[in-house]
Amino acid sequence: MTSFYLSKPYQPPEAPRNLPLDQPWALFGNISPDLFMKKYWHKKPLLIRGAIPAFSLAKKNASELSSPISAQELFELAGDELLESRLIQSKPWSLKSGPFKRKAIPKIDQTDWTLLLQGMEAHHPTAAAILSWFRFIPDARLDDLMISIAGVGGGVGPHCDSYDVFLIQMSGRRQWRISSQHDLSLNPALPLKILQNFSAEQDWVLEPGDMLYLPPHIAHDGIALDAGCQTWSVGFRSPSFKELLQEGLWRLAESLEDIPELEEKFADPQQKASQTPENLPEELIKQLENKLAGLKLDQIGQFLPGITAYLTEPKQQAYFRGPETPLSPSQFAKKLGSHALTPHPQTRILCLKNEVYCNGEKVTKGQTKPIQEAWRSIAATKKLIQRKSLHGIADSSLYDAYLSGWLIFQSA
Ligand code: SIN
Ligand code: CO
Repeated sequence: MTSFYLSKPYQPPEAPRNLPLDQPWALFGNISPDLFMKKYWHKKPLLIRGAIPAFSLAKKNASELSSPISAQELFELAGDELLESRLIQSKPWSLKSGPFKRKAIPKIDQTDWTLLLQGMEAHHPTAAAILSWFRFIPDARLDDLMISIAGVGGGVGPHCDSYDVFLIQMSGRRQWRISSQHDLSLNPALPLKILQNFSAEQDWVLEPGDMLYLPPHIAHDGIALDAGCQTWSVGFRSPSFKELLQEGLWRLAESLEDIPELEEKFADPQQKASQTPENLPEELIKQLENKLAGLKLDQIGQFLPGITAYLTEPKQQAYFRGPETPLSPSQFAKKLGSHALTPHPQTRILCLKNEVYCNGEKVTKGQTKPIQEAWRSIAATKKLIQRKSLHGIADSSLYDAYLSGWLIFQSA
């Protein structure tokens, strides 16, 4: 199946501006994001009943609110090779990777299976909207939104993740048992990461609209209690220092290309006759040391551009496709006056001081001031409406990003 959803004009949701971070939010059980970050984030679990109040309000009015994405739609998406999907069955445990034909997925009323779909923010505006509620946590930490759909008894088994996660119950009920146990050894006989010994300390049944926040390393086990149980996980990432430094160093090495003086060859007119020709020459070491000091390689400022570029690399499965009939630069400039330009949901953007990095590239490099400002506005608010004309748009990174499908127009 081709990417039906991505090829359709996509209307990303409005990202909220100026979130009231010191006010109570229903999403966090009437505590403020400030307090949530101080007391719980990366520290301890928090269960929030009625985090999405619309579900309980609907129930009070004797109507049922269900997930905005139907089981049928999820099964269709599982057939898309551009989407990362997994099918896990318990009794006995098995793990398969997608894409899946419909008949490879158990029927909704069968038991003990779950289907996991990653990167769902690119496939449904509600999934993207839910991610935008968490934009008080730095964008660099955000990973993606995963949706699980399961039959009764379905789950991925007791395990622990190294990431922070918000588990939002969107359809049916799920029992969550959690533990702060230290024994995190895995059962080596199983094809997926399942704890050898799991001893639950807390046990809850989550109803639609409830949410459970888990910091890394809290063991957990979620079991679907109803057919078609949907849990939406907002996942965060925290790369290891090894990964950050390796990626930073690699990019720093590449950036030496831009320093023509380094083409200069090592010269040793002072070299004396040597009794130890096998040794690396002292003269070479001394000159290299001087060069390194000049490049200030021990200073963080030298690493940050590469690390920022790395953190904006899109996910491996991200798929961008430029517009089928692209606007000319002048049509593009005109449309910017009336339609918002927004990042594709899988586009990653981060700022480092005044510079903006998008999908692994420094998009403010060599750009005019107004184009740089436009990028900063996109990074901050996730949208751009440009009433004044932008000079030199034809050669700009903004127009290039539109042609690549990194930035897309919101429909009017
Ligand atoms: C699930 O949604 O079933 C699994 C989510 C998780 O445990 O991280
Ligand atoms: Co987990």
